[in-house]
Amino acid sequence: MCGIVGFVGAQEAAPVLLDGLTRLEYRGYDSAGVAVVSPQYEIQVEKTKGYVKELSALIHGGADLHGTIGIGHTRWATHGAPSDVNSHPHLSEGGKFAVIHNGIIENYVEIKEFLINQGVTFRSETDSEVVAQLLEFYYNECHDFFEAVGRVLRRIEGAYALGMLCADCPDRIIAARKDAPLLLGYGEGENFIASDVTAIIKHTREVAYMEDGEVAVLTREGIEVFDALQQPVAKERHHIDWEVSAAEKGGYPHFMLKEIFEQPEALRRAISPRLKEGKIVFDDMKLTPEQIRAFTRVFIVACGSSYHVGMLGKYTLEHLTRRSVEVCLASEFRYADPIVDKNTLVIVISQSGETLDTMAALREAKARGAYILSIVNVVGSSIARESDDVLYTWAGPEIAVATTKAYSTQLAVLDMIGLVFGEALGTVDSAEYDEVVAELERLPEKMETVLKNHEDIQKYAAQHFNHNSIFFIGRNLDFALGLEGSLKLKEISYIHSEAYASGELKHGTISLIEEGTLVVALGTYGKLFDKALSNIIEVKARGADVLALTTEKHRAELEKTVSNVLTIPDTATMLLPSLGVVPLQLFAYYVALQRGCDIDKPRNLAKSVTVE
Ligand code: AGP
Ligand code: GLU
Repeated sequence: MCGIVGFVGAQEAAPVLLDGLTRLEYRGYDSAGVAVVSPQYEIQVEKTKGYVKELSALIHGGADLHGTIGIGHTRWATHGAPSDVNSHPHLSEGGKFAVIHNGIIENYVEIKEFLINQGVTFRSETDSEVVAQLLEFYYNECHDFFEAVGRVLRRIEGAYALGMLCADCPDRIIAARKDAPLLLGYGEGENFIASDVTAIIKHTREVAYMEDGEVAVLTREGIEVFDALQQPVAKERHHIDWEVSAAEKGGYPHFMLKEIFEQPEALRRAISPRLKEGKIVFDDMKLTPEQIRAFTRVFIVACGSSYHVGMLGKYTLEHLTRRSVEVCLASEFRYADPIVDKNTLVIVISQSGETLDTMAALREAKARGAYILSIVNVVGSSIARESDDVLYTWAGPEIAVATTKAYSTQLAVLDMIGLVFGEALGTVDSAEYDEVVAELERLPEKMETVLKNHEDIQKYAAQHFNHNSIFFIGRNLDFALGLEGSLKLKEISYIHSEAYASGELKHGTISLIEEGTLVVALGTYGKLFDKALSNIIEVKARGADVLALTTEKHRAELEKTVSNVLTIPDTATMLLPSLGVVPLQLFAYYVALQRGCDIDKPRNLAKSVTVE
């Protein structure tokens, strides 16, 4: 959960690193630092608690550091509070090694004790510092940077993406990876490491993804990669074809708002190539109808918002395939001794493709023989690479910590999976299939009409941003949608919020409703509209202030009871949440804006959760 970048080339490294860190900051932002090897063969480290802009000010945009090789880091603290000294890079005691680390060194206590007994003095409270100190310890024995790295990697346990500098070898960076993302960028007379392509796309579009256990040696002339047995590995290179502007704000005040407004276009990219003559066709899926029919169990496994997509998928897939579908939080699935065998399909959902919990669940399922079909946004990410089948969402880079366009495209892809499976199993009603396909085609346009009403939501948010607690209620698809609306709000506005299945309120939670409590009542699911209305009346009777969401069809009826009604266009039932989520995203955004929150970088969070 942090951003790593490394540069070796002909120009000054520090400005390149700062630019890369600015682009990676969404991955972790409690502190930032850089290390550069100087022409005098000394490693200079500058780091600070706070944002990259503070680091940049400290070193005058990089002008204070001279040298053409360096590494940089934005941190999301796991061990030791965010502070200057706990920031990365960490320097070894003798100053010979600088290390940046993403992940957790699980046996750091034991290594730290060992090194302290050897007379080493530690400066920070981090787990990461042991890597720098251990490198120097082994280097003092073998006097070989590469060999010392090998010894360190054999000694440490846990997850890591590492960038390492050695003052005695001022022409190279050594990088290593296990269970944390790291890629290599191939330039002209310059080479890079980075947690993701956004950091380096300005410089190169040719990348290779490091695999677990690999070590890379980067010099100006090239990159050599070795496996865990130190044997050379030939890496497959990938060309990144999206534009730099896709990862820039493009005039919007926040990435989140930009990404909310990008959703119709992202949906077009996710849906259009897969619609052919009224049918859903996944050219990119290997699963055959025979295989689909052979599965006896289906799981959906994911975290956070991706899990909420899975919750919606359960309703939809069960309806379309008449098979039971279990949705599991990846962090729970992994340790739950899940009943998974070779006849099990596990659908894994992840925007980043790097979420450690999800990755671990995938591996657990795979080890038990399951077939893994993943829905992923980041091309070439670990989850995509380790799946048997991957369907990309093609949403483009998502920078805001709070996911929006990835959620919408994941949902569209999962809906399409439901249709394809329903067709293979012969369980989907053909009229419904045709209706959903037609509506999928119209979905981006309908979403554009929802977005046009953003000012209504902004006005409402301006009047209601001061609540201490907000409830989201709904039934069936609206319940799962409420979970996402509530998470969006919590994440970026820090307002306490809960989502409840409306029918459950009377079993306990309705006791929390008092005069003026804000309840966001979701009533888009037509079949249960009357029930939704009854629940609204119940909370109103207890003093709730209700903001309701429904379809155009039910607007008039709802307005008889509720004065604040938001609407979405009518569409096929299973696609309602795809439209319904937009007002909830906008509501969270505008509430957070009113409260002066740092919307793209909410406190304590990071975009890509690569620790357990
Ligand atoms: C959503 O707004 C969150 N930032 C978070 O819940 C996220 O969905 C979760 O961490 C899963 O991430 P992934 O899709 O990249 O695996
Ligand atoms: N575990 C390390 C630390 O707390 C690295 C955290 C990160 O990935 O940013 O410093």
